[in-house]
Amino acid sequence: MKKLCLLGLFVSLASHNVLAATTPAPLENKDAFISNLMKQMTLDEKIGQLRLISIGPEMPRELIRKEIAAGNIGGTFNSITRPENRPMQDAAMRSRLKIPMFFAYDVIHGHRTIFPIPLALASSWDMDAIGLSGRIAAKEASSDGVDLTFAPMVDISRDPRWGRTSEGFGEDTYLVSRIAGVMVKAFQGTGANAADSIMSSVKHFALYGAVEGGRDYNIVDMSPVKMYQDYLPPYRAAIDAGAGGVMVALNSINGVPATANTWLMKDLLRKEWGFKGLAVSDHGAIFELINHGVARDGREAAKLAIKAGIDMSMNDTLYSKELPGLLKAGEIEQSDIDNAVREVLAAKYDMGLFKDPYLRIGKAEDDPADTNADSRLHRAEARDVARRSMVLLKNQNETLPLKKTAKIALVGPLAKAPIDMMGSWAANGRPAQSVTLFDGMTAALGSQSALIYARGANITSDKKMLDYLNFLNFDALEVVDDPRPANVLIDEAVKAAKDADIVVAAVGESRGMSHESSSRTDINIPPNQRELIRALKATGKPLVLVLMNGRPLSILEEKEQADAILETWFTGTEGGNAIADVLFGDYNPSGKLPITIPRSVGQIPTYYNHLSIGRPFTPGKPGNYTSQYLDDTTGPLFPFGFGLSYTDFSLSDMALSSTTLNKTGKLDASVTVKNTGKRDGETVVQLYIQDVTGSMIRPLKELKNFQKVMLKAGEQKVLHFTITEDDLKFYNTQLKYAAEPGKFNVQIGLDSQDVTQQSFELL
Ligand code: BGC
Repeated sequence: MKKLCLLGLFVSLASHNVLAATTPAPLENKDAFISNLMKQMTLDEKIGQLRLISIGPEMPRELIRKEIAAGNIGGTFNSITRPENRPMQDAAMRSRLKIPMFFAYDVIHGHRTIFPIPLALASSWDMDAIGLSGRIAAKEASSDGVDLTFAPMVDISRDPRWGRTSEGFGEDTYLVSRIAGVMVKAFQGTGANAADSIMSSVKHFALYGAVEGGRDYNIVDMSPVKMYQDYLPPYRAAIDAGAGGVMVALNSINGVPATANTWLMKDLLRKEWGFKGLAVSDHGAIFELINHGVARDGREAAKLAIKAGIDMSMNDTLYSKELPGLLKAGEIEQSDIDNAVREVLAAKYDMGLFKDPYLRIGKAEDDPADTNADSRLHRAEARDVARRSMVLLKNQNETLPLKKTAKIALVGPLAKAPIDMMGSWAANGRPAQSVTLFDGMTAALGSQSALIYARGANITSDKKMLDYLNFLNFDALEVVDDPRPANVLIDEAVKAAKDADIVVAAVGESRGMSHESSSRTDINIPPNQRELIRALKATGKPLVLVLMNGRPLSILEEKEQADAILETWFTGTEGGNAIADVLFGDYNPSGKLPITIPRSVGQIPTYYNHLSIGRPFTPGKPGNYTSQYLDDTTGPLFPFGFGLSYTDFSLSDMALSSTTLNKTGKLDASVTVKNTGKRDGETVVQLYIQDVTGSMIRPLKELKNFQKVMLKAGEQKVLHFTITEDDLKFYNTQLKYAAEPGKFNVQIGLDSQDVTQQSFELL
């Protein structure tokens, strides 16, 4: 119906005498088409394209449409249904040049069907499952009229105090980079211009995960080598996979805010990496340049941002307000504005919107009768991906899987927590559609269910935190708080435990505790829940902890108390069913930690691939004057890459095809992995490499490859890994990316610590 084909655009423009003097460029020729269009644009229309506004419940829609029709807005975010977006696109089609709007949204781990949080997706180490989650998210979002997502979030996170750890894929550069590529390809499908694709705008460029002390929005001070080696590759991987956009980080980098950072945005991103897409500021970031103390006022902030190469300004009006005056005064060039406008138009072109502005909005008569209908969800896929995303941390005496005939007490504030199941950044997910653990276990037990439920504790007894968490959510009460005194709740749970054969306790964080602006100084389970766990332990009943949380929790005490611990993170819409599948053994857990779990907050950072040091602490060989803490055991509580199964796996010694490698050659490292237990199961075999001596200090080991393999009980397989010079390259002190001849250790293991090792020489 309201399709805008090229011909239509120009017929209509010509009828307004806009293009009377020019010959329209063919739509097939992107550059010519955009140049031609830009020739028709007034300065105000150009600046209008640089404005990305947030659609809030309080915003007068009529006013927005008026602004769009006047050519003052380039795109929106947070408007997320076809009926919402259609009138805005109609308004754009009433504008002088009929430049289409785009509609963006934070589709981070699902759109309507919520998949596990990114940290959980990473725990699957399953690229097919992760890709499936992204593809379904794109299908659902695009069929709601969404054109672009601010995802994936690929900030390396080595500080679990940072609340946004939940939103990233963990601590490891290689793993996060692999996932970054998979997610971008999944979102963009056959191309960002496909009707069932959404353009991916990778974030937060750059280094947001390294904010000081895990405090959100803070500074980042980092050596160039560390940046290039550890933190930048995931963004690069997303761009190499074709990400159409980049969202710029809120933090500063070595004294310059990313939003005003010409080195970051121009020298690195555009020149060195050849990025050709759209650079969007984060929310209000241009204005915040004043708070950073690099801009005196809004005018200077706008100047710094446009000069740095920030194409679109998210949710502030500074570009619209200040760019005309800056241009007039000669403080910025016309080309500064034109470059930005060109990127916005190019992105719209790449999203297929010039060809058809209604590509994802469709016709009104095709709108779903009920936008929130359950039939629009992808429950089976969400359940399967969620099962793959959990990590079994402990399973003493084969406490798990549970027997369906057992009398089970299900306790804890997260047993019936539909909002929390979804995790933060749950897009268009509906709490009412998410399956709680109680629901999932009840369904799994069917008519034989003898589940005894007691809440046992609230999420927290910290009133200030509770108020803050509820303040984060405008639509619903984020955290339910049972008004009964803590001891009454605990007594009820203890009684339930005593009446049962085994206790399952769903404990951890509410989803808002691991979110933007939710940094914590303490990464324990909240104290009132720990009291509950102690009381449950005291009953003497076998205790299974089902952890729900968005960051590693230092569960030192709980590790001793519990007989089994399942790290579920936040599992999404089908979480309750998926957890029940694992608890009852209908699925054998196969996840591995994508981030180290520290013993205490004081140990942070605890990432596995630390650089070598002069006086290392050697476990089992205590020595004075080595790098250690006086008051605790050195080393993590659970290492990177760790995760158990209901079966056992053994690895043979590794065979290396040669003890030397030529610069152009290949080496084969192989191991036999055997399922020595009684159940079929999957595990992740991980390959690490250590550059023993280099021109600069190299990490103790680095993940370089992995394979997730399914083995039937008793089955064995030989796995081969190819090693080439590329796997040995690193950024040296001159930022030259090259491998250096010398000795390398190759390690293969089922986690980062328990490995079998061989060595070779790069010639
Ligand atoms: C976040 C971004 C997000 C944006 C829009 C900001 O506060 O930092 O990650 O994309 O809001 O919702």
